[in-house]
Amino acid sequence: MSENNTYSQILETIMKNRRSVRNFSSEKPAPAQIEKIILAGLNAPFAAAAVGDRNDFRRFFIIKSDSAARKELELIALSHLKVTLKKLNSLPARIMGVTKKLAKLIERLENAKLPNAPYIIIIAELNGIPPVAPQALAHAAENMWLATSAEGLGFQLLSMFETMKENKALCKLLDIKPGEYSLLGCAIGIPMEKYGPVVRPDLKTLTKWL
Ligand SMILES: Cc1cc2nc3c(=O)[nH]c(=O)nc-3n(C[C@H](O)[C@H](O)[C@H](O)COP(=O)(O)O)c2cc1C
Repeated sequence: MSENNTYSQILETIMKNRRSVRNFSSEKPAPAQIEKIILAGLNAPFAAAAVGDRNDFRRFFIIKSDSAARKELELIALSHLKVTLKKLNSLPARIMGVTKKLAKLIERLENAKLPNAPYIIIIAELNGIPPVAPQALAHAAENMWLATSAEGLGFQLLSMFETMKENKALCKLLDIKPGEYSLLGCAIGIPMEKYGPVVRPDLKTLTKWL
């Protein structure tokens, strides 16, 4: 078998085993593993034309479960969730009636809290023109997700942080200017249970060759 085939098979296996993990053991992955994962995030594409010559176009904030920062982050997240819920609940009843999804989202947010993972990582991407930082963050997160799977660890995407780029308390904690970076979060740790491979609809039903 050629070397290329081997790489391709390894990549396929990693992609198949990449899952959303939402329940973590209290055991901590080694910091060297976290560094590998972050490096994978840095190696993901970035929008060079949008961020110009800034070397700090992408930053990583690792919040350890036993840190003072983690306690503070919990309070900040809780208060942000409360404000979000208040805004959603004050939407006209007409809209609420139309979208069952919105009611479901509210229900989910009412029970939301930060996961019990040993590491929460906030990825920050410099906002530029054109405004494509969220897309760049998705690339960084996917690279990190795959690297996490390759390490045999679990990863949960925390999209709540996308709505917090202007949050003054969070930006103060991270020591960044409100609005200068777009944000995305993830939790990383050792999964509590075993996960099977990803399950998706039949590719043939979703594909058209023209
Ligand atoms: C844009 C986006 C946002 C997501 N946000 C969250 C999130 O905030 N919390 C979470 O647990 N999973 C989140 N997910 C994960 C999806 O729910 C998950 O990928 C999907 O259910 C398929 O499961 P799998 O990742 O195990 O294949 C998000 C995924 C995407 C693409």
